[in-house]
Amino acid sequence: MPPEARTVAGSWAQRPSGVPGSVPPPSVPLSFLLAAAVGLIGCGVAWVFARSAAATDPTSNPVVAAVHLGVLATLATGILGATHQFAPVITGRPLRSVRLARATLVSFLAASWMLPLGVATEQVAVTAISGALTGVALVLLAVNLSGPLRARGKGVPVLALRVALAGALLTGFLGVTFIGDRQANWFVLAGHVDLAMGVLGMFGWLGMTYIGVAEKLWPMFMLAHVPGPRRAPRVAVVGVGGGVLLITPGLAWNIAPLAGIGAVLMTTGLGAHLVSLTAHVRHRRRKADLHLVFVITSAGWLVLGAALSLAAAIEMTGDARLGTSLAAAALAAFGGWLLEALVGHSYKVVPFVVWSALRSRSIASGPTGKPLMFSDLYDHTSAGAAYGSVTAAVACLCAGLAAEAPALVAIAGALLTATGLVIVVSLMVIPLRMLHHAASMPRVRADAARPEPGPVTAP
Ligand code: HEM
Repeated sequence: MPPEARTVAGSWAQRPSGVPGSVPPPSVPLSFLLAAAVGLIGCGVAWVFARSAAATDPTSNPVVAAVHLGVLATLATGILGATHQFAPVITGRPLRSVRLARATLVSFLAASWMLPLGVATEQVAVTAISGALTGVALVLLAVNLSGPLRARGKGVPVLALRVALAGALLTGFLGVTFIGDRQANWFVLAGHVDLAMGVLGMFGWLGMTYIGVAEKLWPMFMLAHVPGPRRAPRVAVVGVGGGVLLITPGLAWNIAPLAGIGAVLMTTGLGAHLVSLTAHVRHRRRKADLHLVFVITSAGWLVLGAALSLAAAIEMTGDARLGTSLAAAALAAFGGWLLEALVGHSYKVVPFVVWSALRSRSIASGPTGKPLMFSDLYDHTSAGAAYGSVTAAVACLCAGLAAEAPALVAIAGALLTATGLVIVVSLMVIPLRMLHHAASMPRVRADAARPEPGPVTAP
């Protein structure tokens, strides 16, 4: 296929001037992000239902269902949206096809809801179909990203996205194996085997994507130029990737020394990720804002997750029940690391993408008639409320799982649902209202509009 035809198939043909040619249409990332917010609403409801089971047995079916509405329907769906947006932007190469991206969303969305529903209701056929759909979605993803991720010389973010794609495929493969095992009892699905999936999916796929993409997003959103040469980003990717490679088999086959060496590598990698964050915070030119608060809180959950993992590993040999509760709380904290980062970055990325979409429809002025700013495109009070509720939710979930307290788990669930609702309303209402009133809005030439001060080569 000639390069031009490929560009049209995988990128946004009607983009306004100034938007990079490789960018997909706004509907691609926005549909994934909307689906992720709906997933968060469902995840919260599932935790309310799973509150008692979570306190007595964190590996029971209602908990597995709530976990996957969190990791698949929320985190992975949101992170896939970011991947579809940023892989083309970072590499300057479009997706292979926008249609493939839409097919990935549909199949992944169906899989990520059917798996928890099938597990919770013990409908074996539903669970099996979800496994097949996961496979389809991940193969489509790999085909679509194979164009952008083939780019050379694009540095650590692309390396991280390649590793994350491999992590996604491996997690999907392990998930399908687990589904098969639930039906045919191929092996004993003990708690440590479940944890192997948690590490592979959370760090090899989801966390790896954040670690890579953050190296592009932090400089842009914090207006930070960290002087080079910088080793921390590469150490982060290699350390976390190497850690996952050793911890996953170490947990799956219960080989403690392997998991132990992997944990050291992983800690080194995550430490380097935090070193890089600190450098960006120190060299930023933008004043402290809500995004910074989200990012720092997110890093706090990462540190708490590491501390809880260590405590769990120590307790496992003594009080195994406490060890299991602490391990569940650690996974919740690691999930909080990514959820807080996802929500925080949504309040930057969604307005940015929506801004381009409005400009492509010649809407270039804000409500006051002045040039449209990113900050006109979401409700700031609600964004603060989303920060408060998601942070309280993660805190309650960690505490509820560690202390085996159903009431705290239920509060966490209610807060997660509230957060999802607030995100949908605060990020959608203003742009939809603007589109609705587009005809009566004062129109200026799209090119005359300028974004907030800051880099324009953006998401
Ligand atoms: C980011 C990706 C993922 C993460 C972080 C993750 C994490 C986890 C965790 C922590 C558990 C144990 C839950 C508990 O015991 O309460 C688990 C179990 C399970 N996961 Fe996943 N998972 C991911 C993706 C998947 C996928 C893609 C599938 C299927 C296609 C899947 C299928 C399962 C199944 C069937 C179980 C239950 C195993 C059992 O019977 O004990 N997971 N996963």
